[in-house]
Amino acid sequence: MAKSQDWFNKLRISYEIGELNDGDLHHDPFEQFRIWLEAAATQQLPEPNAFVLSTVDQTHTPSSRTVLLKSFDTKGFVFFSNYNSKKAKSIELNPKVVMNFLWLPLHRQVIIEGTATKISREDSEDYFKTRPISSQLGAWTSPQSEVIENREVLEKRAQEFSEKFQDQVPMPDFWGGFIIDPNLIEFWQGRPSRLHDRFRYTKETKNSTWKLNRIAP
Ligand SMILES: Cc1cc2nc3c(=O)[nH]c(=O)nc-3n(C[C@H](O)[C@H](O)[C@H](O)COP(=O)(O)O)c2cc1C
Repeated sequence: MAKSQDWFNKLRISYEIGELNDGDLHHDPFEQFRIWLEAAATQQLPEPNAFVLSTVDQTHTPSSRTVLLKSFDTKGFVFFSNYNSKKAKSIELNPKVVMNFLWLPLHRQVIIEGTATKISREDSEDYFKTRPISSQLGAWTSPQSEVIENREVLEKRAQEFSEKFQDQVPMPDFWGGFIIDPNLIEFWQGRPSRLHDRFRYTKETKNSTWKLNRIAP
């Protein structure tokens, strides 16, 4: 049964816990991001490094999914995935992506638009080695984004790979990291009456400096 309008209206909340002013923002958007990510971690939000990654394929069809940020610096934001997955195929054909971090208990959202490229195999391997063995085996086991017959197929493959590699799991060549080089970073803080604070950093193409603007909510 569809929910009534009244049911949805009762979900409405007023965003009253924070505000964002020009003077509050760091001139460097990466530093500003770090401050907000750390605030989300300090507040013990579950997986504060989770973000929704949107891609657009060659037919202009968008798709989204959640992934985990694993590192970032001024060169960009890094996540790891299967290079044969739907997202990876989209990125290969169209590297323009959007990241969306939602830290709802803080009434905060960060949107990052940029260009994704694969990181070096060496850097991927450095990270792969830090993963628990079960996750390393998971990378081999899952033909990510493909149709599979049933769960047993997955469990059988997991068993086969764990017997094959025992305790030294090499990184599959179809797995690794992507780095997203941003050209736009927007910080959103919920405010009462839907008059939220939004600030957007855009990268100036000529000298790679960041311009900061307040945006209407
Ligand atoms: C909290 C959370 C974290 C996730 N982290 C990752 C990740 O870091 N890398 C990844 O490939 N998939 C991750 N996934 C699974 C993806 O959302 C997605 O199902 C998978 O990558 C396949 O996406 P695709 O078929 O669109 O390529 C995560 C899912 C959730 C809910």
